[in-house]
Amino acid sequence: MRDFEYYTPTRVIFGKDTHFQVGTILKEQGCRKVLIHYGGNSAVRSGLLKQVETSLREAGVDYVTLGGVVPNPRLSKVREGIALCRRENVDFLLAVGGGSVIDSAKAIGYGVANPWTDVWNFYLKTETPTACLPIGVILTIAATGSEMSNSTVITNEEGWLKRGSVKCDLCRPKFAILNPRLTYTLPQYQTESGCVDILMHTMERYFVNSETMEITDSISESLMQTVIYNARILMKEPGNYNARAEVMWAGSLSHNGLTGCGTGGGDWACHQLEHELGGMFDVAHGAGLAALWGSWARYVYQENPERFAQFAANVFEIPCGIDFEKTALAGIKAMEEFFRSIKMPTNLRELGLELTDEQIHELAFKCSFEDTRTIGTFRQLNMKDMEKIYLMAR
Ligand code: NZQ
Ligand code: ZN
Repeated sequence: MRDFEYYTPTRVIFGKDTHFQVGTILKEQGCRKVLIHYGGNSAVRSGLLKQVETSLREAGVDYVTLGGVVPNPRLSKVREGIALCRRENVDFLLAVGGGSVIDSAKAIGYGVANPWTDVWNFYLKTETPTACLPIGVILTIAATGSEMSNSTVITNEEGWLKRGSVKCDLCRPKFAILNPRLTYTLPQYQTESGCVDILMHTMERYFVNSETMEITDSISESLMQTVIYNARILMKEPGNYNARAEVMWAGSLSHNGLTGCGTGGGDWACHQLEHELGGMFDVAHGAGLAALWGSWARYVYQENPERFAQFAANVFEIPCGIDFEKTALAGIKAMEEFFRSIKMPTNLRELGLELTDEQIHELAFKCSFEDTRTIGTFRQLNMKDMEKIYLMAR
């Protein structure tokens, strides 16, 4: 078991109609002017944006708005937000949306609060932020856990590089309003893609080669079972409040650090491999992860078949004899069958990508930072390994 630090300062307000409290909650924060940041059209169409504006006006909180954040959020929108915040003297950011909107808000927060450097440097990891504007969240999709996490992922249109920021507690939201009902309007594909992302945040932390903690393993296995169970329910009953609620809370717990306590940080190779897909081909993050995971798992499981066998036994209740290798492979197959059952892809073709050899090479070249880094800890992967995994997933 590794030593660890667990820090999760976000106040969570969970339940039906909780978003109507946002004006009062912001008032308590003592802010001067808020930027309401949102995405394409869903928050406008559902009436959520109007409700949020009304709540702020009633509480006497001054605000400006900036919409138009796209999935795989862009650096150009971040720059637009930074300029707007400076012009309008904004001192608090309210993200109304999913991971893309929250991440864009975090990037704006860094940009405004660190005028001494260019915000992209935090994503190149050549600089570390020293401050961030405070952020609040009204979550509309259960997926990334960005509502409690310490990172943000932005795509730079110059070179189509999708990069995660330096991990930094400064960007953890001050509060997150989680109303499962706000996710009812999601297309099925986004709901299920979100479920995969939630699973993956725990799996990335679970598949490590060091000794782990029994309590963390149990929390992780139970979280995975809960998400699998409820993701299946949501295929048939998108308006099932309890299923929405279970998945939403699992999403926050899966990426606030809880399932990594004592595991030493996790593997994260699948996330690194997927970020290149998102940057180059603009795919939904969770679906991209589903398309890669089985290939990654088959490529690495022999490093520690026992760990994969534990996963098979405790998450999918596959009887585990002494043949760890066989049980490990059965667990990988079971997860892929689950992905198929929720209409998620298990390879790149099913994700909608027909990639050439050159494109596969470019993905691996970018993911390895031009052959200068390795990824993963379960098994360290160099550029050649990455290329092989993309090829297996093709
Ligand atoms: O833009 P709108 O119109 O709102 O539509 C969005 C978008 O098209 C739609 N949507 C969201 N809530 C909705 C809704 N449609 C109807 N009803 C609702 N209630 O869903 C689509 C996807 O939204 P997005 O915010 O992109 O999804 P998600 O939450 O999956 O975020 C993905 C981004 O977060 C990053 C990913 O890489 C990706 O860029 N991640 C961020 C992390 C973090 N900061 O901790 C960790 C993750 O691993 C991940 O990398
Ligand atoms: Zn993710």
